[in-house]
Amino acid sequence: MHVPVLLNEVLEMLSPSEGQTMIDATVGGGGHGIPIARRLSPGGVFLGMDWDKERLKELRQAIDEEKLDLEKMILVCSNYADLQDVLEKEDLGRVDGLLVDLGFSSDQLGAGKGFSFRGREEPLIMTYSDTDVPIYEILPTLGEKQIAEIIKDLSDERYAGRIAKAIVRQRKVTSILTNHDLARVVREAVPKGYENGRIDPATRTFMAFRIYANRELENLGRILGSLAETLKPGGRAAIITYHSKEDAMVKHFFKDLAERGEGILVNKKVIKPRDEEIKINPRSRSAKLRTIELT
Ligand SMILES: C[S@@+](CC[C@H](N)C(=O)[O-])C[C@H]1O[C@@H](n2cnc3c(N)ncnc32)[C@H](O)[C@@H]1O
Repeated sequence: MHVPVLLNEVLEMLSPSEGQTMIDATVGGGGHGIPIARRLSPGGVFLGMDWDKERLKELRQAIDEEKLDLEKMILVCSNYADLQDVLEKEDLGRVDGLLVDLGFSSDQLGAGKGFSFRGREEPLIMTYSDTDVPIYEILPTLGEKQIAEIIKDLSDERYAGRIAKAIVRQRKVTSILTNHDLARVVREAVPKGYENGRIDPATRTFMAFRIYANRELENLGRILGSLAETLKPGGRAAIITYHSKEDAMVKHFFKDLAERGEGILVNKKVIKPRDEEIKINPRSRSAKLRTIELT
C-alpha cells in the first residue's frame, strides 16, 4: 500500500478549497489526489492523471466509494508532459493548483513491471506506460559506453563502468530479461562490501534505467515549461522530487520564474519530511517539496 509523502505539507501549499479546479498529474492510488478532491467539493473540478493504466483502475474504485460532490472528476491515462493536450481535450481552462509527485509508487513494486530488484521475478519492463519500449528490449540496443553513461549520469553510481562491462559480457551468454537477471549481474559486478551493505548494489542501476526508459527528466522539463499556460495567476504548482537532478531542475526553474517576477516561491526553503514521517514511511527519506505561485 503506497503511503502519500508530505501529505499535510502538500495540502497546506496548495490549500484546495470548494469550487476550485486542481490537477494531480501523478495521481497513482490517490494518496494526495483524494484528499485534494474532497476539499474541492462541492462543485470543484479535479483532474487526475497517471501514465500507468492499472493505477487508474484501482483509483476509480476508491473514488466511487468516496461519493464526492464535484462538478467534474476526470481521470486520464497520459504522460503528464502532454498536460496541455489533455487540458485542451477536456476543455479545461487554467487551473488553481497542480501537484506532481515524481517517480513510482510502492503499489507498482511487484506489479509485474520489474521496477524492483527484490521480490518475485518479473519481466524487466520498467515503463509506466504499456505502449513504451520495455528495458529488456532497449538494453540489447545500447553499447557499453552508452550503458555506463546512463547509469553514471542518472544515478551517480561510481561503479557504472564495471556494471556496464558486466551487462555486455552477460548478454553475450544469455539475454537480460528479468529484474532478477539484471540485479544478479549488478551485484556480481561491484566490489564486496559495496557501500558497507547500506544499500543493495542494484538500487542505483535500477533507478537509472527506470528514469531512462520513461524519459523522466525530459517529462519534468516539459511540464515545468508549460506551467505558465496551465496555472491561473495566483495558481500554485507543488512538486515532490526524490532525485537530486530532478530537484535541481525544479529549484532552478522556480528561481528563474521568481527572478523574472513571474512567480513567488511559496516556501523559500525546500520542505523535507520530518523524522516522524521518515520513521513511518522510509521511502519518504529523499523527498523534497517545492511550491511556486504564479503572479
Ligand atoms: C510517487 S507516485 C504518486 C503517488 C500518489 N501521489 C499517491 O500518494 O498515491 C507517482 C505516480 O506517477 C506516475 N507517473 C510517473 N511518470 C509519469 C508521467 N510522465 N506521466 C503521468 N504519470 C506518471 C506513476 O505511474 C505513479 O503512479
